[in-house]
Amino acid sequence: MDRLNKVNYQFAPAAAAGGSKKDSLSVVDNRTGKSYELPIKDGAINATDLAKIKSPAGAVTRSYDPAYMNTVNCISRISFINGEKGILEYRGYPIEQLAGKSTFLEVAFLLVHGELPTSKQLATFSKKVMKNSAYHHGLEPFIKAFRHDAHPMAMMSTLMAALSSFYPEANPAYVGAGIYNSRQERNKHIYRVLGCAPAIAAACYRHRIGKPINPPKEDLGYIENFLYMMDADPSDKDYRPHPKIVNAIEILFILHAEHELNCSTAAIRHMTSSQADVYTSLAGAVTALYGPRHGGANEAVLRMLDSIGSVDNIPQFIQDVKNRKKVLMGFGHRVYKNYDPRAKLVRTIADDVFSIVGREPMIEIAMELERIALSDEYFVKRKLYPNVDFYSGVIYKALGIPTEMFTIMFTLPRLSGWLAHWDEFVEDPENKIVRPRQIYKGYKRRDYVPAVERRQLVDQELKYVIDSKDARREASLKEARA
Ligand code: ACO
Repeated sequence: MDRLNKVNYQFAPAAAAGGSKKDSLSVVDNRTGKSYELPIKDGAINATDLAKIKSPAGAVTRSYDPAYMNTVNCISRISFINGEKGILEYRGYPIEQLAGKSTFLEVAFLLVHGELPTSKQLATFSKKVMKNSAYHHGLEPFIKAFRHDAHPMAMMSTLMAALSSFYPEANPAYVGAGIYNSRQERNKHIYRVLGCAPAIAAACYRHRIGKPINPPKEDLGYIENFLYMMDADPSDKDYRPHPKIVNAIEILFILHAEHELNCSTAAIRHMTSSQADVYTSLAGAVTALYGPRHGGANEAVLRMLDSIGSVDNIPQFIQDVKNRKKVLMGFGHRVYKNYDPRAKLVRTIADDVFSIVGREPMIEIAMELERIALSDEYFVKRKLYPNVDFYSGVIYKALGIPTEMFTIMFTLPRLSGWLAHWDEFVEDPENKIVRPRQIYKGYKRRDYVPAVERRQLVDQELKYVIDSKDARREASLKEARA
């Protein structure tokens, strides 16, 4: 290094090393030899800037990211996650403080409106939500039409979409998307959804267990009312759920309320971008949450613990996971590469719940599974830690909530996060229809061939698995055809 370079290096090491202090990325396209400078803002390049980089034939360059592993889709002010450090904040407030001091409705207000409410604002908000705690009576025949063993998430997704049909005066399909420009109009839908979702969930549960549906009691607290609608029998005069159980569910609801751009929240933004109404858009988010890779993991964890059966079977199970025959449900996360802060808090609620309803034996399997996994190189190397779903199912099981209802217990609070994102997106200056690109690798253009000239090119379409109850009929049809 010559003397001048040495001096430069001392004052501006990046520049002296050939770099610069600019917030940009210099790119050389080796196909054409051309150089480009792409600005970096908030740590991201603008993907549309890549379109300026053209192949010798003039084709634009795009980024390929099928699972959005490294793609920013929006600017949001609702929640913040630091996955490396295991930090989660709603509107700047640490999740630990909210879980310890707040209530679910206060958190819902915070998420939707951006600030914690004053006592007066909270009272008004709670009143408005509770005034909406009965769902439109037109929904009842839909609920009763489901089979007794219909999955509650399939019911919830259908019923959320069905809600849309009762409010045509606020449906962009009839009146244009401008309807949502009004804050008051949006509030109406937010109160209605938060208000009546617990009644829908409780009705699904009552339908499943074959008991009459309980109407809501507006004067109860939000969680209290939900538990009342699930559990009270006509003979239970002045029934009130156990305050410690209410408190445990309150905390679980706070922890599940919001989690930035996860699969289901991305889904509601996606639906909203087409200007579909808020209820149908929420139905899409419910569907995304349903899957076992996302909110359905709490149900899957329980089924996994059940199938492991005893602590003695854990080593074999872990081996199966490492051999890729099984997946350790409730472990791993796209963003957290550290302990999910929600999982830590969920774990602490378990003992409180057990002190009231008795210890759930599955907790022993879960704890041992966690202990072994966290010391096993396979999980350590991949930074796989328990996520929010790992312990929540054990708590719900202890509380006697059927396994199929677990993801409903996730859906109810998450509605507040989805609605906050819906509200934010409706007002977003970058609100455009979401429309990713594809790389086409199918046939080149070819001409239509008349049926008589065609060769058979598809073999699979007629093969299917015969349902055992159809076997007799299929055998008879086969015989008749022969
Ligand atoms: N068990 C075993 N191996 C796992 C697990 C797991 N639970 N999770 C990830 N891995 C492995 C993958 O096989 C992969 O290994 P490889 O690099 O050798 O191929 C590596 O860890 C990275 O995993 P990816 O699947 O690439 O991570 P991704 O970010 O795509 O997936 C996900 C995250 C879907 C949560 C995944 O960890 C998973 O399926 N976990 C189980 C389901 C679950 O608990 N979901 C709830 C998530 S929290 C929520 O949505 C509320």
